[in-house]
Amino acid sequence: RQLHGNSTVDIIPEKHFNVVFDIDGVLIKGKEVLPGTRAALGLLKSNNVPYIFLTNGGGLKEIDKAEQLSKKIGVHISPRQLILSHSPMRELVSTFEDKNVMVVGGNGSDCRHVAQYYGFKHIVTPEEIHSVFPYVCPSSACEARSVPLAEKYLQNVHRPVEAIMVFHDSVDWGRDLQVMLDALVSRDGDLNTVKTQAELHTTKQTVPLFFSNSDLVWSNEHPNPRFAQGTFRTCLERIFKDMTGQKLEYTVYGKPVSATYQYAETVLNKIAPIHRGPNGMPRRRTVYAIGDNPYADIAGANAYGWESVLVRTGVFRPEGDENHHMHPATTVVNDVEDAVRWILSKEI
Ligand code: G3P
Ligand code: MG
Repeated sequence: RQLHGNSTVDIIPEKHFNVVFDIDGVLIKGKEVLPGTRAALGLLKSNNVPYIFLTNGGGLKEIDKAEQLSKKIGVHISPRQLILSHSPMRELVSTFEDKNVMVVGGNGSDCRHVAQYYGFKHIVTPEEIHSVFPYVCPSSACEARSVPLAEKYLQNVHRPVEAIMVFHDSVDWGRDLQVMLDALVSRDGDLNTVKTQAELHTTKQTVPLFFSNSDLVWSNEHPNPRFAQGTFRTCLERIFKDMTGQKLEYTVYGKPVSATYQYAETVLNKIAPIHRGPNGMPRRRTVYAIGDNPYADIAGANAYGWESVLVRTGVFRPEGDENHHMHPATTVVNDVEDAVRWILSKEI
């Protein structure tokens, strides 16, 4: 009991902690559900521990990804529990609502639909540009993929590109790098123009550029990690540097960027009740982030003041029992079930 004002009140020791799951390399690998995933989620459910999913993946609306994941794992996942790499990019709508935004990445028009759902009104994709201007990407393989698209998707191909947003991994690097570069070296996003050499080397980049994550690699069924959006960005940076002598300017979202963690905290506040102490002040909550990528999941969690649990089922390749040399996690465990058991042993 503790004295509070003129009276004493019971201080109930409360288990006040939440768990944040990474997805690829922790719960699933490509089409496979990793062993331990269902047991880990079941343990949290039976102990009434609120949890969310924070992934650098994307390419679908949160509601569609939640449905896809629920079916795959066999556990109901609400879109309210799910943060994709591009979810915090909704905040860009207020600035770019009236601008023509080139949305890059993903299959077909999936990312166009995500951007529309967030509220962007004028959207164009590299595929749409290629469909109207086949010579944009003249290699035969690319040309073969240039398919006519419905007229409703082609309204913005003649408008200058006023921003570029990469929402997901590119499925056609040659085409997408070419079209993005076309916009970046153009005069104010007009794809029919190009700056002079002198202008390219002396004037500032006029088309703002955004990436939804910085991962160099991710983990699927292949024994070694695969290229991710950061590798694609590295190519773009190198080509831009060679063409202009200048450093490519861009903004990145996703883990480990703090804006993404602030967004995650607002999501946690919505799904997990805030516990208040006797003075009405919110109690400090412990958040455990479980991830496989030290540079994204562990670096981001550590920097934001969360506890971090690194699993050995994904990108992280330990030689022995050691922790990561640059971004050591609070603890390292074999898989997601061990991670949840470790968290529960600390808290309950
Ligand atoms: O960067 C690729 C992405 O698929 C990684 O996803 O769930 O490991 O953050 P995740
Ligand atoms: Mg991962």
